[in-house]
Amino acid sequence: MKALDYLRLLIKGPTPQQTAAQLRRPHGFLARKVARRMNAVNRLLYDGAWKALELRDGMHVLEIGFGNGLFFPTLTRQANKLVLHGLDFSADMVQQAQANNGELIGKGALSLVHGASDAMPFADAAFDRVFCINVVYFWDDPSGHLREIKRVLRPGGTFTAVLRTRASMEKFPFVPYGFTTYEQADWERVLRANGFEPVSTTVLREPETEFMGARFTPESLVMVARPL
Ligand SMILES: C[S@@+](CC[C@H](N)C(=O)[O-])C[C@H]1O[C@@H](n2cnc3c(N)ncnc32)[C@H](O)[C@@H]1O
Repeated sequence: MKALDYLRLLIKGPTPQQTAAQLRRPHGFLARKVARRMNAVNRLLYDGAWKALELRDGMHVLEIGFGNGLFFPTLTRQANKLVLHGLDFSADMVQQAQANNGELIGKGALSLVHGASDAMPFADAAFDRVFCINVVYFWDDPSGHLREIKRVLRPGGTFTAVLRTRASMEKFPFVPYGFTTYEQADWERVLRANGFEPVSTTVLREPETEFMGARFTPESLVMVARPL
């Protein structure tokens, strides 16, 4: 980053373009701050995902795009002997999540991998559950990602995507810079076009929030699907 841009960032804060790039792949000196901010605003979405996952003892679970991985310790308590895996294509997030989860990693209950969801370094039929939260906006072509998710799911496995609705996302000034947004019917169409059957959708109404002068109540969808 040029010195002038850096100075502008320090004085004025990130531009919408810079925020968008950080949310897509947190990196550099802003990565820690961005990850903490996501922890604060996305906790409710994690709770919603865990309910929808219907975890049973001993399941193998993959989270794609875990950010700083702050919620793995809570996830591991949702059932006994879960085997947790995480995949994220931000090297900074992998590093922070490893630092936040030393105990789980040390006892072999969690493994974190640096990589992208359209070329996953996992064997076929490795997982009972795959989930991601606030990630599908960044899949410019969802087909390759969904093909990989289908490949790594075991028979009877499910894929859960948690996403804010387009109507909610459009309130954020960074969304024009590289986000693809969905309403429930749009994501269902994407799922069906890629060999998944939608199973259930839960709507989460989040507390009223203020962002850059606008007040609104964001709405998220917890959408469970299974391979056809
Ligand atoms: C907006 S953040 C969401 C973090 C967290 N899930 C949350 O909701 O608070 C998106 C995360 O997904 C990761 N990510 C985005 N696209 C990805 C992809 N194709 N493969 C792996 N990780 C990806 C980013 O690096 C980042 O950590």
